[in-house]
Amino acid sequence: MTREDDLIAAAREAAGHSYSPYSGFAVGAALAFASGRIVTGTNIENASYGLALCAETVAVAKAMAEGMRGELEMIAVTGPGAAPITPCGRCRQVLNELAQLGGTDPLVLCVGPDEIVRLRLSELLPNAFGPAALD
Ligand code: THU
Repeated sequence: MTREDDLIAAAREAAGHSYSPYSGFAVGAALAFASGRIVTGTNIENASYGLALCAETVAVAKAMAEGMRGELEMIAVTGPGAAPITPCGRCRQVLNELAQLGGTDPLVLCVGPDEIVRLRLSELLPNAFGPAALD
């Protein structure tokens, strides 16, 4: 198994814990850090539909709550659809915060059933507004 395979497997496993009774769309996310650590997340929905938390946002919140502040090297996102799943706009911004703290531009693996789209976070969110903008 390559590092990419491991990360995708972790994202898929996390999707198994998705709480998505309203959309039925189980998403998994996995973050790889320079230390080798992997932190996962999955989407958590709410009876008040608009309050759903995306898998990527949950993963970032878990990582930051455990003290991570950068060193984000790679991200995998998996979903049940026919196409590779790319992070939503809000998640791009949330991922960017953690990435910019460590000065990295993580590779994002957008995983579909038949293909993996590989993009840098800076390609998904060009000219990002981040912590450095507040200096
Ligand atoms: N979702 C994610 O978890 N990540 C994304 O990047 C896109 C969408 C979730 C939110 C909602 O629970 C479900 O997918 C359908 O939109």
